[in-house]
Amino acid sequence: LTVQANKPITNVPPNMWGIFFEDINFAADGGLYAELVKNRSFEFFAPLMGWKEVKQNKDTGHILIVNRTADNTANPRYAALTVDAPNGSYGLSNEGFRGMGITKGQQYNFSMWANAPAGTGLQARVVLLDEKDQPIGEAALSGFHDGWQPYKVSLTATGTAAKGKLQLLFKGQGSIDLDMVSLFPANTWKNRPNGLRADLAQMLADLKPGFIRFPGGCIVEGRDLANRYQWKKTVGKPEERTLIVNRWNTEFSYRSTPDYFQSFGLGFFEYFQLAEDIGAAPLPILNCGMACQFNTGEVVAMNELDPYVQDALDLIEFANGDASTKWGALRAAMGHPAPFHLTMMGVGNEQWDPQYIERYKIFEQAIKSKYPDIKLVSSAGPFSKGPMFDYLWKELKSSRADFIDEHYYMPPQWFLSNASRYDNYDRKKGPKIFAGEYAAHTKEGTEPESRNTWGSALAEAAFMTGLERNADVVQMASYAPLFAHVEAWQWRPDLIWFDNLRAVGTPNYYVQKLFSANKGTQVVPILQNGAVLAGKDSLYASATIDAAAKQVILKIVNVSAHPQSLQINLQGVQAAKGAAQQQVLTANTLAINTLDDPGKVAPVTQSITAGNRLSINAAPVSLNVIAIPYK
Ligand code: AHR
Repeated sequence: LTVQANKPITNVPPNMWGIFFEDINFAADGGLYAELVKNRSFEFFAPLMGWKEVKQNKDTGHILIVNRTADNTANPRYAALTVDAPNGSYGLSNEGFRGMGITKGQQYNFSMWANAPAGTGLQARVVLLDEKDQPIGEAALSGFHDGWQPYKVSLTATGTAAKGKLQLLFKGQGSIDLDMVSLFPANTWKNRPNGLRADLAQMLADLKPGFIRFPGGCIVEGRDLANRYQWKKTVGKPEERTLIVNRWNTEFSYRSTPDYFQSFGLGFFEYFQLAEDIGAAPLPILNCGMACQFNTGEVVAMNELDPYVQDALDLIEFANGDASTKWGALRAAMGHPAPFHLTMMGVGNEQWDPQYIERYKIFEQAIKSKYPDIKLVSSAGPFSKGPMFDYLWKELKSSRADFIDEHYYMPPQWFLSNASRYDNYDRKKGPKIFAGEYAAHTKEGTEPESRNTWGSALAEAAFMTGLERNADVVQMASYAPLFAHVEAWQWRPDLIWFDNLRAVGTPNYYVQKLFSANKGTQVVPILQNGAVLAGKDSLYASATIDAAAKQVILKIVNVSAHPQSLQINLQGVQAAKGAAQQQVLTANTLAINTLDDPGKVAPVTQSITAGNRLSINAAPVSLNVIAIPYK
């Protein structure tokens, strides 16, 4: 194989390998968003879903759910408790999201809003319970007043539970109104209040993503327009954000998850902040006036599209405007006076109808007129074949869309045969490509993680060499979906699986990580007898140089069941003396990583002798990332 290190084809876009975040499979509430209390504001369809009344030791009382829509439109319901509990054991327990993950020695911050005109003498206990209902942490709260106000207390867990619970018990006689009953671990990502689960956020940071697409996916569209994702309802104080039913709830899911709602505690501010924390460019996707085609397929009348367009314009102001602007001021008030440097935005998701083009054009005109530098991502591009897709493709090609968003959920074989998909792409006309959602789909197995086989990841790796080789066309790519809770998933495969205490990177995660952490700065040719490697002899390859680190980086995928010995001829640079590095990812093609056995498929690093002529051993079914330092 010849590597022409001094003949750069194109720059590797800095945002090339990114993340697709969607609140599916408990990715936000019950996942990345660290809140442990389910239905904290009693706004689920069944207001006490997740809650149970607790009555012990002859103590008694009752709970009434009160709705005060006129006073509080965003969060109308609260729980009014009447307490008759001389022994201190009447109250509520919350089951969390498939239980609460509680860790011994860890501090937890409890808070609630309460109003107690007739309950000033009540005393409360906040108790953490393990799976056997044994207390593993306790704290007291008292001094309740007339008038709504927050009450807070911290407690340290004395035991660990993957499926713990929270109890809030009252002693005395009186009544108290409760809302926004909340429990967070103190050690959230960057120790932020209203924060993110640190282990999951760290796994994202470790990917070194170039961008984060947010908030999806179908969730952008919503099951109907009333339940579409509206960013303005996800910012400001958490208690003033309006909860909606998740589009992946119950009948709209492949699997039933009837308790799936969006609290928006992880909203657009938290999203921008996370992107900034981990050095990823934000890539928000906005509703284009169309609900999900797999649900109602409802579209807004053209003469009522303006508020949707205004939302897009205002989001740019929220991200980038200074404090003299309405939305910039809100961002500053939320604690981030500096801009978030938003440079791109998507309009619509998987809308494959002429109605999309009509609506997209209005967005394009408005956004490009006011913010000419904002790059626009159009909805999912013409992936399938047929007259409708030809029409969409033609329209989008002649639009000012900077990117077309292509999605591919296909069998591994498709990824292998499409490694050269963009080799002959029309580079003169036509927008760039954003491979915004992709995953190789294999057959189902019993474990939740069973579709994330090494074979699927290997096929993605082979395909990704084709993306990298064509980085002048495909400038961004993200695997999808990102997260899944092992007990609350609707879609698989997914990149990261988790339960309430643990998380595991799939083989696909390690492929993403290897590409992203070794992306280099310029693509250079890697050729076999003058031809690119896109499947011949079961080999796929791409090469980059990292000009700053002075390294040539090769990605070589061997999909055959045999080892292959490869001679590399490095041209155009002088290899430095000493060791080069080969990171190898290989396993049985059916191997998976699970929470109980997380390390079956993980990269191993070995040293190889550097030089302009290198011998590389590509193990059977392996991805090899080889970094060769040069002078
Ligand atoms: O990634 C899961 C779903 O797949 C996304 O929500 C949607 O865009 C696609 O159909």
